[in-house]
Amino acid sequence: MAKKLRIDKILSNLGYGSRAEIKIYCKKGIVKVNDKVISNPGTQVDIDDDKIEFNNEVVRYREFVYIMMNKPDGYLSATFDKRDPIVLDLIDASYLTFEPFPVGRLDKDTEGLLVLTNDGQLAHRVLSPKKHVPKTYYAKIDGIVTVEDVKAFEKGVTLDDGYETMPSQLKILESGEISEIELTIHEGKFHQVKRMFESVGKKVVYLKRLSMGKLKLDETLDIGEYRELTDEEVKLIEER
Ligand code: URA
Repeated sequence: MAKKLRIDKILSNLGYGSRAEIKIYCKKGIVKVNDKVISNPGTQVDIDDDKIEFNNEVVRYREFVYIMMNKPDGYLSATFDKRDPIVLDLIDASYLTFEPFPVGRLDKDTEGLLVLTNDGQLAHRVLSPKKHVPKTYYAKIDGIVTVEDVKAFEKGVTLDDGYETMPSQLKILESGEISEIELTIHEGKFHQVKRMFESVGKKVVYLKRLSMGKLKLDETLDIGEYRELTDEEVKLIEER
């Protein structure tokens, strides 16, 4: 079915100006649809089939934007905060017109893979507790991580509020005073990784998300950098 949107919404979403500015551009005659000047900013346009031009340049419309960020420590996974920096502070204004938001939260001090999008349905599916989309983390742990911890996590551990976690896969990369591990969980409770280690008497001292579904963090992104996802990568987020 044809998807129709107002021309002023389309152009303002794409960063051509505010709705009020688009209205002025329409009056000036620089907005065309199917080669005809459009003076009414409320004109409905078929985003798939109609040809839109702004100042004689063809406009390619897209509804959604999908961004992969290597989140730095010190930023909140939020769209607004009065006090602290937020991940959207790191993103170019041309993306902000799409009103992206983080798909799930990472703690302020957690680094690594964060997906930002304005595709609410995708976010809903990925975060749904029924979908069990796996998330893999790399962590440094204060203390020796043991094979007993691996077995306990595989069985499920009890968090401080009595919640029994689903089976998770713990891989010990390095066991020592500061251990290094990878943990894959299939749910997303508040501070889950930190609380799972607390349940076995250990403290997470560094945490980084490596993957979500089958989407892996692009390690060529420096901390705080981001890029758009390809269509194939968008599909990987939901794959198990
Ligand atoms: N688990 C945590 O404890 N913190 C995060 O940021 C993500 C998972």
